[in-house]
Parts: sequence; structure tokens; C-alpha cells
Amino acid sequence: MSTPQVAILMGSNSDWDIMKPAVDMLEKFGVPFEAQVISAHRATDMLIDYVTGLRERGFAAVIAGAGGAAHLAGVTAAKTTLPVLGVPIPSKYLKGMDSLLSTVQMPKGIPVATFAIGEPGAANAALFAVSIIAVTDTGMADKLADFRKEQEEMVRNMTLPV
Ligand code: RP5
Repeated sequence: MSTPQVAILMGSNSDWDIMKPAVDMLEKFGVPFEAQVISAHRATDMLIDYVTGLRERGFAAVIAGAGGAAHLAGVTAAKTTLPVLGVPIPSKYLKGMDSLLSTVQMPKGIPVATFAIGEPGAANAALFAVSIIAVTDTGMADKLADFRKEQEEMVRNMTLPV
């Protein structure tokens, strides 16, 4: 099995449906990944242990999805210098605005690249991870260029019922 390049973390298994597009996208590009539930507030020591070893293990990026007062991405970023891509999970009462603000409003010094709330954010975080890998991997850069062409083609083929 290939060495994983991207870590996908989520605060609970209730986040799975939202985070699955990140998994799907990495699979589409053939990027090896490791996905698991780790909570910043319910399993803090486990998170710190896991994140601390990621650079040595050869990872290129971490995708972290969490909801509510979401600190998973922030704590992850505090413990690794790898790029951390935050995905705000939609929450029941505030519809993910709480998750978005908790993830995006990192104080200066410890950055989290924050994506859209929900599934589009999860898919885009994975695409961004692919872009990071593609900086030094020309095969991956070619796949990304093909993916952009596919999207353009899709728009060119769109019709309206008028
Ligand atoms: C966060 O709390 C998780 O990321 C999840 O979005 C939210 C609710 O978790 P559960 O109560 O469903 O486990 O930590």
C-alpha cells in the first residue's frame, strides 16, 4: 500500500456524510490518504499525538472538518507546520456559521486555510490538497489540468429549456 499523503480528520462520525466528498475526490485523483475521527475536545491527547508525527511520516497536508465551536483545524495547525485545510461542518442550530467562524477566524501566527461550509468545502479542500501535491508532482498537475478541462466541457454542454 502507498504511503498516505493527506490526513483527513473529522470531529465525529456524524461528520462523515459531509466529509465523504473529500475522500471521493482524493480517490478520484489517486492520492493515498488516511481518514479518521479525532476530536479536539473529546480526545485532545490523541489528536496531538497523531498530528505531531505527520510531517515525519511524509504527509503533505491535513484536512480537518468539525462542527459547532470547531477547534479541530486550529489545534491541528497548532501542532504541525503542514498546511491545514479546515472544513466547517453544518451544525443543527446555526447551520455551520458557528463552525465557519470558529475555523476561519484564527488569530495571527497559526493559519488554517478555511473552505466553504459543507460538502463543497470538503471537495474543495481535497482539491486544494491535490494542488499542494501538484507543486512538485507533475503527474498530479496534469490530472488537475484535465479536471479543469472536464469542468469547462461540462459548462459548454449545458443547455436551458428555452
Ligand atoms: C464536533 O461536534 C463534531 O465535529 C461534530 O460536527 C459536532 C457534533 O458531534 P456529535 O455530537 O454528533 O458527535 O466536535
